Amino acid sequence: MTDPAPAAVIAGVGAWVPPRVVTNDDLAARMDTSDEWIRTRTGIRSRHFAEPGTATSDLAVEAGRRALASADVHVDTVVVATITPDQQLPHTAPLVAERLGLGGAAAFDVSAACSGFVYGLAVCAGLIAAGTSRAVLFIGADTFSTTLNPDDRTSAVIFGDGAGAVVLRAGNAAEPGALGTFDLGSDGGQWELATIRGGGSRQRLAAAPFDPADEYFAMEGKAMFKQAALRMADSARIVAKHAGWRIEDVDRIVSHQANLRIVEQVAYELGVPAAHCLSNIDSVGNTVAASIPLAMADAVAKGDLRPGHRVLVLAFGGGLTWGGTAVRWPSLRLADPTLPNTRSANP
Ligand code: ACO
Repeated sequence: MTDPAPAAVIAGVGAWVPPRVVTNDDLAARMDTSDEWIRTRTGIRSRHFAEPGTATSDLAVEAGRRALASADVHVDTVVVATITPDQQLPHTAPLVAERLGLGGAAAFDVSAACSGFVYGLAVCAGLIAAGTSRAVLFIGADTFSTTLNPDDRTSAVIFGDGAGAVVLRAGNAAEPGALGTFDLGSDGGQWELATIRGGGSRQRLAAAPFDPADEYFAMEGKAMFKQAALRMADSARIVAKHAGWRIEDVDRIVSHQANLRIVEQVAYELGVPAAHCLSNIDSVGNTVAASIPLAMADAVAKGDLRPGHRVLVLAFGGGLTWGGTAVRWPSLRLADPTLPNTRSANP
């Protein structure tokens, strides 16, 4: 009998947000919104924005450093999930690898918007299962504030910048931390629900001028909301079934943090207590590919995510894309357990 393929096992976690806190009142001072609207419609009280000159790789390096210290494993591969790379070329991961002293490692980016962390986990698990990589530093990082249209109050209030990372090592499927089966899906027919149309090969920068609004992120929030709750609940049922868990056996759900009401809607559709759904959106907003590992690191630091917990990891984003996986949470050491800069400035 041949040995089973190695499983990808979570061996470390880390996160970082830029120090500058932007409160709802700060936003209300420059656009037609209010702290009350943002809090009640999204659950967000504040978020962190990178200062001009700080790029996605700067955040990724900080999160990556903490995850490496937490894992104490030699990694041979660095993967970064992002849709806000430092520039179009080179991509972000080789820069991050070099700055972390991992020059020579395999390094590439994954692009799947707010689903980037779950898609990237699946890619890393595949590299480990194939024997191509023994250990991977996988970072979700975005500076999405750079894409926000100051004239679009609907989207400008929900996003923040940040980075979160995990180290995955080769292990066996039965040990704590082993990633389970993945459910991944997409619906390109609904691509127009979340877009940044400019700057790619369809609307070339050097060609005829395009609508300045196309340089910015645009979203149909209500339609995204409905799809997010539906798709993440479906993925939850699929991956829980593969793991051999009933939904009522699930201890924690770590889902993409787009809006607290979406987190609560997923809990409602699955029939799990809202308290089982982790959320730190109040102090970080929607950090795109960083949102899941940021929520994980925060929950580990607070003791909300503990060894032995049966955890569902769920994501949804532009594309449309979605996905999920299941993991029995391992015992981890947090290199920087206080994560002081993710605390809300407006409690
Ligand atoms: N402040 C005050 N009022 C506002 C604001 C604001 N910031 N934004 C919208 N409004 C108003 C609207 O103009 C509207 O007013 P009207 O009733 O007089 O016309 C009213 O509030 C309701 O607007 P909606 O757009 O229907 O508000 P909704 O409750 O849907 O909340 C939101 C909007 C927060 C964007 C929500 O739809 C949402 O969270 N959607 C999901 C986003 C998501 O899942 N994104 C994930 C992926 S993105 C990616 O992949 C990068």
